[in-house]
Amino acid sequence: MTSELIKQLFLSFNNKDEDLFLQIAKEYIEKEKRKKNSVFAKELEESLFNKRQPNTKERRFKNELPIPRDSEKGFPLLEIHNFDSYSLDDLVVNEEVKSQLEQIITEFKDSDILATYNLKYKKKILLCGRPGTGKTYSAQVISSIIHLPLIYIRFDSIISSYLGETATNLRKVFDYIEQGMSIILFDEFDIIGKNRDDNHEHGEIKRVVNNFLQMLDNYKGNSIILAATNHQYMLDPAIWRRFDDVIYYDLPNLKTRELIFFNYLRSIKKDDNLDLKLASKQTDGLSPSDIKMIVEEAIKLSIINSQNSLSMNNLDEAINKFLRREKVKNNQMKR
Ligand SMILES: Nc1ncnc2c1ncn2[C@@H]1O[C@H](COP(=O)(O)OP(=O)(O)O)[C@@H](O)[C@H]1O
Ligand SMILES: [Mg+2]
Repeated sequence: MTSELIKQLFLSFNNKDEDLFLQIAKEYIEKEKRKKNSVFAKELEESLFNKRQPNTKERRFKNELPIPRDSEKGFPLLEIHNFDSYSLDDLVVNEEVKSQLEQIITEFKDSDILATYNLKYKKKILLCGRPGTGKTYSAQVISSIIHLPLIYIRFDSIISSYLGETATNLRKVFDYIEQGMSIILFDEFDIIGKNRDDNHEHGEIKRVVNNFLQMLDNYKGNSIILAATNHQYMLDPAIWRRFDDVIYYDLPNLKTRELIFFNYLRSIKKDDNLDLKLASKQTDGLSPSDIKMIVEEAIKLSIINSQNSLSMNNLDEAINKFLRREKVKNNQMKR
């Protein structure tokens, strides 16, 4: 919230809008009063109206640390992305997930107010559910709304084949995120499930995850840490306690699927007889990400066929193609 006010303050200065500047400055002072920072609020009032220089003590910020890298192979252990175009409405989720996300965002924005009551905003969040249901997307949406960069860490990229290197990589990542303020996503944290059959020993993987959880417990920074997994049932129930909130992403139901079709086709010219209800019926069990792929395929088909608008045939064909592909995939898995 404070950062939003300050941004508006800067904008009003930039636009030379003195009235707006004063209004926002006063709003900010009121906020400080609500936080019971009365001395500071008074100083601010004086600096705003009495033409007196505030007592500015130069604040020093740490230089930005370089992005940590794997010392054996040299690749970066994390990526930093900036998102600014997503809103919560882009994410089609059930009411519960939506309100959980809203609360995380509001608590963060009002963290200074919560702090005056000795309360902390939710900082460590577990995102779980099937692939393609919007976990990574949620992190991008939160980053957009809060106007903070998203630090993206693919969990398996920090797993090193060299003994001891994994722990070092984790340490480097945590040292890095301890400074500054951002939204952090440890993605595909389902490493336990995924690597059960490969050459990593189960015990070794378990140790890495425990190591991660310990560092998470000791994390003292101000960022929001999200950890995403597709295999929540594989995680030890004790893990739940380490998080301030757990968000479960369900596969969309009939009505929700229709909404997802509708949203992704919103800006596309469509035939009048396009039956999204039917499309939704045909895609039972598919994820939002699957539906997005189907829609993109259907749009491509209509373009390639030089149609003016997207037809039910295009949509049907794309759905059938997708379902056939799923069938092949599932058969292969059974072999
Ligand atoms: N709930 C959703 N609402 C709208 N679009 C979604 C949703 N979930 C996924 N998508 C689309 O599918 C893409 C991939 O989803 P992603 O967030 O990476 O899934 P996950 O991380 O849960 O496996 C997203 O970038 C988005 O375009
Ligand atoms: Mg993901």
